[in-house]
Amino acid sequence: MGSRIRAGQSRPPRRDPSERGTGSSKLADTVIAWFAQNQRDLPWRRPGFSAWGTLVSEFMLQQTPVSRVVPRLEEWLERWPTPADLAAVPAGEAVRAWASLGYPRRALWLHACAVSIAERHGGVVPHDVDELLALPGIGDYTARAVSAFAYGHRHPVVDTNIRRVIARAVAGQGEPSPPSARRDLAAMEALLPQDPPQARAFNAGLMELGAIVCTARAPRCESCPLARSCSWRAAGYPEHTGPRKAVQKKYEGSDRQVRGLIMAELRAAHKPVTDTEIVTLWPDATQRDRALAGLLRDSLAIRAQGGYTLPS
Ligand code: ADE
Repeated sequence: MGSRIRAGQSRPPRRDPSERGTGSSKLADTVIAWFAQNQRDLPWRRPGFSAWGTLVSEFMLQQTPVSRVVPRLEEWLERWPTPADLAAVPAGEAVRAWASLGYPRRALWLHACAVSIAERHGGVVPHDVDELLALPGIGDYTARAVSAFAYGHRHPVVDTNIRRVIARAVAGQGEPSPPSARRDLAAMEALLPQDPPQARAFNAGLMELGAIVCTARAPRCESCPLARSCSWRAAGYPEHTGPRKAVQKKYEGSDRQVRGLIMAELRAAHKPVTDTEIVTLWPDATQRDRALAGLLRDSLAIRAQGGYTLPS
């Protein structure tokens, strides 16, 4: 243990007895070594990837799988390589380019972030967590992810995957407790190496482990570098008894589907889409009206010349 503490470094936080032998630095070392050998080749991990690219990718990854994000991200950064490039076009262009990534309010927030970065930060993505938190649509996760991954600052970064790995490997529970920023950040902080590059690799590595090995439905424990010290495995994989994560509602027939159909029509059209055209998109008038009203309320659609368009 002592040999891992280099001159000038402070001693890591004391181990929580609930860690059952997975001493924090041992756990971090194991994950970092595994990540070095097993990480996927993803655009945001390539040398020279910009802070703006990290911000865009984190917005896209919030609710969309990696495989669907990668092609959109590459197109996006080719078209708008800096925040100032995106800030210079209407918000509707961002919504159009968001295409089928889903939850298109993220495109509006990203555009608003670009405007704010261009106007108030000299076109440079801030590195400070509080300044990042002050940007539109940026929460605890994204602010720390950008500061840690783009700038190498030492912060705990906690996403759903990390919460699940800590719940299993450290706390011995099959599922994490309901999210609590304070508790989740403290749990990750207790495991995080002091050295910023190591902390960065640990954040990314634990996230990757949750994404490709310690998955929610079919964990591949036989390939897990933490299997020998995992508290959940040692306890015989006890059934989860706490509150269950809300099951996502079926997309087919939902208001989300109707909103998606209207948005696809607005994106494809280069002139206003009329009420008559919208009527053809979905048979149930009540649901159609509700979806359209929601899009107008969210500023994803605006009224213009006898119809509706993307925002200008
Ligand atoms: N690396 C950094 N952030 C990530 C994310 N949100 N998903 C997958 N890999 C990542």
